[in-house]
Amino acid sequence: MWQIGNPLSMYKNLLSSGKIGQLALRNRIIMTPMGSNLSEANGHCGERIQAYYEARAEGGAAMLIVGVAAIAWPSGACNPNQVAISSDEFLPGLCELASRIKRHGCRAAIQLQHAGKVAVCDIAAGRPMLVPSIPDRPRDEMSAALTSAEMSAFVKSYQKKGAKAAYKVADRDDIRELIEHFSEAAERARRAGFDGVELHAGHGYILSEFLSPSINRRDDEYGGCLENRARLLVEVIKAVKIRAGSDFPVWCRIDALEYRIDGGICLADAVTTAALAETAGADAIHVSAYANPASGAAFTEAPLVHRSGGYLPFAAAIKARLRIPVIAVGRIEPEVAEQVLARGDADFIAMGRKLLADPQLPNKLIRGQQASIRPCIYCYTCVSRIFVNEHVHCAVNARTGYEHEIVLLPALQSRHVLVVGGGPAGMEAARVAALRGHQVTLAEQRADLGGTVFFSSIVYPENGKLTGYLAAQVKKLGVDIRLSTAVDGGYLRALAPDVVLVATGARRDALAIPGAEQPHVFNGDQLRALMTGSDSAAVSDKLCGWQVALLSVAGLLGITKNAHWLRRLSYLWMPLGKRVSIIGGGLVGLELAEFLAQRGRDVTVVEAGEKFGTELAIVRRWRMLEDLKQLGAVLINRTDVSYIKAQSLVLTCDGVEVEVVADTVILADGATGDLSLADLSQSLGYETHIAGDCDGVGYIEGAIHSAHAVARSL
Ligand SMILES: Cc1cc2nc3c(=O)[nH]c(=O)nc-3n(C[C@H](O)[C@H](O)[C@H](O)COP(=O)(O)O)c2cc1C
Repeated sequence: MWQIGNPLSMYKNLLSSGKIGQLALRNRIIMTPMGSNLSEANGHCGERIQAYYEARAEGGAAMLIVGVAAIAWPSGACNPNQVAISSDEFLPGLCELASRIKRHGCRAAIQLQHAGKVAVCDIAAGRPMLVPSIPDRPRDEMSAALTSAEMSAFVKSYQKKGAKAAYKVADRDDIRELIEHFSEAAERARRAGFDGVELHAGHGYILSEFLSPSINRRDDEYGGCLENRARLLVEVIKAVKIRAGSDFPVWCRIDALEYRIDGGICLADAVTTAALAETAGADAIHVSAYANPASGAAFTEAPLVHRSGGYLPFAAAIKARLRIPVIAVGRIEPEVAEQVLARGDADFIAMGRKLLADPQLPNKLIRGQQASIRPCIYCYTCVSRIFVNEHVHCAVNARTGYEHEIVLLPALQSRHVLVVGGGPAGMEAARVAALRGHQVTLAEQRADLGGTVFFSSIVYPENGKLTGYLAAQVKKLGVDIRLSTAVDGGYLRALAPDVVLVATGARRDALAIPGAEQPHVFNGDQLRALMTGSDSAAVSDKLCGWQVALLSVAGLLGITKNAHWLRRLSYLWMPLGKRVSIIGGGLVGLELAEFLAQRGRDVTVVEAGEKFGTELAIVRRWRMLEDLKQLGAVLINRTDVSYIKAQSLVLTCDGVEVEVVADTVILADGATGDLSLADLSQSLGYETHIAGDCDGVGYIEGAIHSAHAVARSL
């Protein structure tokens, strides 16, 4: 799976050097600022944040922008573990951070921020939050989807002392002080060894609050027309240039659009703001976007755009007006990045989530190893953790955020490791064990690698990219892959491995609901068999003759082995009724509901618990729940299914029975761990380990993290 062709010509523009001001950059890939919550609780940069950034500097990016450094710490801060840059006491950690980034030929920049009306650390401390004018009371459409544990972590900072939000409208002295804080922080950044600073003038923080016509209602020279609203930003840029030196690069991140905000920033405003910033001395403009945070789903429009390349037209429009470089961001794939640069629509490409998933992405492009880039699956685990005051973490990369403690060392002694199960956990365990020098055999019962993720990738294609990557890696590492291989006691005795690592996944027990045995009711295994044609016997009683024949033909043509084709063909035909009820509103049930609703089914999801999709990372959950609402799916919580009739479900909610019509019923609940093979292996005397869902359902994140941990321990 090595890239054919010369990478230096395939990514000629992306890998070429560039300049911001006088700052020379080795290529065009910049790590976008991401608050990691990895600094120490007192704002100092300790080993864990340094190791995290150093791993990305080693990965070949041209420059890293350290996310949200608080210029007036602890005032104006929005996370308890933010980086602070408000006084010289923080210099030792900052100096070390800059030096560890630069040691790898990478440039180090730092984003300067004051959180304004979202400075929750101010609320926690009983301080008023500094704002341009009193904001409207924020609507809250987010909390409904959160569990009580998430809710208490989410608002942890508020809860102390039962504090409530209070505001201080910035007067002239406050504005003067704010400018002072920004410029002082920039000068401190320079002294710490940073190569430049980014002013955070986006995402609802204070500089963007002044810029936004919907938030800024001042009637002095800092409010009203755009020139007035941009005055603070312009004054900050000028002050930074004076204080830190005119040769010290400073640029700003602005929002090209405020989604879902009536009268918010529009592209025309952003173009003018960028031009004003350029005139004031900014060395570049970084083009992001913002969305009204009242609705959690909006977060996947901005600033963490779900749509690939969602802000590229904005960057192009701003670039057309400027002479200084433009940094584009927002789920930009390397191939797209290359085209954007070739067209001249931007000068640099910032990448965030991709570099959490694989810090070595730039080096892999340089070396022509594109197929070995670990893909981000856009599951929002990284940022959801920040919402609940945890540090950054990645579902597909177990080291992210743990670089200071997780190091892959060669095994003391190479052993023969049998990994059973070819899903993400099995493949990740095999990959890591092989990397460490073990001799690895990977046995998979099915004819393909991927496990149940193949099925989930029909519904959510990103998952398929991950299993594709893992399969390619285990092959490349020389793992002995044995497909269509069922492992039992006899197999273990015959192979006689030194270690057995069981990653066989979960068991799906039939739900004990009267009527579940009827032909129009499918459990997870049957649905999978139906969609993938993997086990026609499992569904033979549920289909009529021509349906079975059609599926057999699809199987013969290889269509049922191809998630892409299954995804497309399922729009045309699926042997499922028009009205589908799904029992179980967890991750599996919701993903299925979305898939079916997109294909014209009238979907009802019935969940016994209080909340839906609790296994999904918060941000992805918000998005999925909103999508389901838009698609017209009906979600019913706190409700049990009493029995299933031929054309309906009988539900009981608060002691009241209701009937919901259903042509097809899908049981999407009931997955539990399954340690039967692990128990057998242990009883036969093998050193036995477990990873993934066989030890309790943890989905992709649980699979990857547990597999990595086990394989590290061998
Ligand atoms: C974990 C996380 C933290 C983020 N924190 C910041 C931040 O501190 N400052 C900022 O301007 N943007 C922040 N963002 C937004 C990113 O800088 C970037 O604009 C966004 O992730 C889109 O880029 P991507 O698709 O390459 O990830 C954050 C994103 C993530 C995933």
